[in-house]
Amino acid sequence: MSVIQRFPPVAPSRAHILHGGDYNPEQWLESPEIIEQDMHLMKRAGVNVVSVGIFSWSMLEPREGQFDFKWMDALLDRLARNNIAAVLATPSGAKPHWMAAKYPEICRVDAKGNREPQGWRHNHCYSSPVYREKCTIINTMLAERYARHPALAMWHVSNEYGGECRCELCKAAFRKWLQARYETLDALNHAYWSRFWSHTYHDWSEIDFIDESVHGLTIDWKRFVTDQTVDFFKHESAPLRRLTPGVPITVNMMGMYEPLNYWKFVPHLDVISWDSYPGWHQKDDVIYDAIWTGLVHDINRSLKQKPFMLIESCPSSVNWQKISPLKRPGLHRVSSLQAIAHGSDSVMYFQWRKSRGSFEKFHGAVVDHVGHENTRVFGEVKALGEELAKLPQVVGTMPKAAAAIVFDWENRWAINCIAGARNVDKNHDQTAVEHYAPLWQRGIACDAIDMDQPFNSYRLLIAPMLYMIRPGVAERIAEFVRNGGTLVTTYLSGIVNESDLCFLGGWPGGADSPLRKVLGVWAEEIDALPDQRTQNVTAVDGNDAGLCGTYVARHFCDLIHAETAIPLAHYTTDFYAGRPAVTVNRYGQGSAYYVAARMDSRFNDDLIGRLSKDLPRALNTTLPAGVSATMRTDGASEWLFLMNFNAAPAKVGLGSQYERVTDGKPITAVELEGYDAVVLKRAV
Ligand code: GLA
Ligand code: ZN
Repeated sequence: MSVIQRFPPVAPSRAHILHGGDYNPEQWLESPEIIEQDMHLMKRAGVNVVSVGIFSWSMLEPREGQFDFKWMDALLDRLARNNIAAVLATPSGAKPHWMAAKYPEICRVDAKGNREPQGWRHNHCYSSPVYREKCTIINTMLAERYARHPALAMWHVSNEYGGECRCELCKAAFRKWLQARYETLDALNHAYWSRFWSHTYHDWSEIDFIDESVHGLTIDWKRFVTDQTVDFFKHESAPLRRLTPGVPITVNMMGMYEPLNYWKFVPHLDVISWDSYPGWHQKDDVIYDAIWTGLVHDINRSLKQKPFMLIESCPSSVNWQKISPLKRPGLHRVSSLQAIAHGSDSVMYFQWRKSRGSFEKFHGAVVDHVGHENTRVFGEVKALGEELAKLPQVVGTMPKAAAAIVFDWENRWAINCIAGARNVDKNHDQTAVEHYAPLWQRGIACDAIDMDQPFNSYRLLIAPMLYMIRPGVAERIAEFVRNGGTLVTTYLSGIVNESDLCFLGGWPGGADSPLRKVLGVWAEEIDALPDQRTQNVTAVDGNDAGLCGTYVARHFCDLIHAETAIPLAHYTTDFYAGRPAVTVNRYGQGSAYYVAARMDSRFNDDLIGRLSKDLPRALNTTLPAGVSATMRTDGASEWLFLMNFNAAPAKVGLGSQYERVTDGKPITAVELEGYDAVVLKRAV
């Protein structure tokens, strides 16, 4: 939980909500009137920030060593004249053709060992010394040239880092990485349990990339890919750090993107930012997507425990999902305010203007091919811009989270490796969302952290499927519960260590682990249910965990023994009828709940609803289903965000008096239209 304070703006001296997006005037250099019109339209839309230069390398350096910054000079000057901040990109996201032709090593090698052809983007080798050097040169020139430019507000380093390369350079780097991690082959062989299937390594040179049958190796490969990407990022940021020490650095991340452990970037970033593209309207309603997106915003806020940036989102529909319905009227506003509600200090788009040709010509944009402002989408963006301009006081404020959910990349990698009783629908991410949903629906702020973050400032810690336990984590969980915290964990928890070796002596945690004592259960076997089969779980009468009646379990059912724990519900069918399915163990001043099966949403709502009943809420009232409430504060005032993700209207009583931020009107009850939101304020 964060200490209450007001953080400085994400971009120094820009003390308002940032509103804008990706801008590519280099595509329109032959049409100066369009660029001129862009400035006019940006003013109309309340745009005060643009990300520029993201894919501009071939325009900045059309031939090796020949640079052309004139158009960028003109662009930044124009932005400065119009008081629009530039989030200036380093261009490494896409490499120029000449470079790939002359230095093939910069192209990635795929999993089959083939060098990828030049083209597309986001596909350079992270190890290549040539590419690193080329980045250093261009980034140094950008930083030297624009260090004191009044438009420069922030660095946007590269674009959506991702993917991996299996070239010989990367292989050598991986082996070096393994040597640093294990020092001896004996240690590595032990960690990989490599006598299994005769996989013992007798020489470092025998280690190839991943072998998916060796889970420890697979997880290490993913760790390496993250570390190598971070290393590349640090390398290309070095000139920016040296030449523009006061200019914050961000990288646009991709939410729950599985291949990169974003926590490893955190120490090297000034500002967290992410690109949000939920599949709005692909289901019957948008509530599940809203909850999912709320959790991702919370991950991004928790990464640095500071306000973050929504740096890309789509004002209408994207072009890369199978089916992308248009955002229904109002949805753009409520989904943008949702980002602010969870701690973003910006609403930014991909993209300002639709490109005329190539892959993204049909991707939603503020300005469509029609070229004027009289469109539905422009109208919504403009109205939102006006509203955001009235929220400068929200900048730098934070929610107060007394609950946290553990969302841990390495744990997720390990779960995804499992070859076990049920290898489909392991659903790490969905399970996190299902456990987060009851808090979202109650307006209870929740951080989303990895298992290495401190737990002690929270009162409720939810760690579903905490399969991997890294060194020290069980001890920290024990301390958290002993000091009065409430822990919820589930089936598939406490099973492997950081190398994916199973704990011996009884799960969760193994014989010597404090986890076993904290939870007071022994999980002996796990039953995997086929899709069509369910289990019933019936609450013990008079339990104090809010459980009532019979719930439905599916997919996974742990067969546990309550050692010191007290059963709160039992299985009621099949040969394990009567065995405990949900338990609580009192440990020190706190309580630890073990949910042995994958339960239905009514169960999660009952249990987490009860365990969170004394936690602070944005609003002390029962919210209509699909209505979300969050609060940001600087300690003196509170800003309440009420958001209706239903297509139908909803009413919310406030219980006390607030004022509406847009017009200062006092208000005690709110009527929200479908896909509507309101921002209210009161003194603390
Ligand atoms: C990503 C990229 C953008 C653009 C959008 C399209 O987020 O960063 O360049 O391709 O996707 O949704
Ligand atoms: Zn490589």
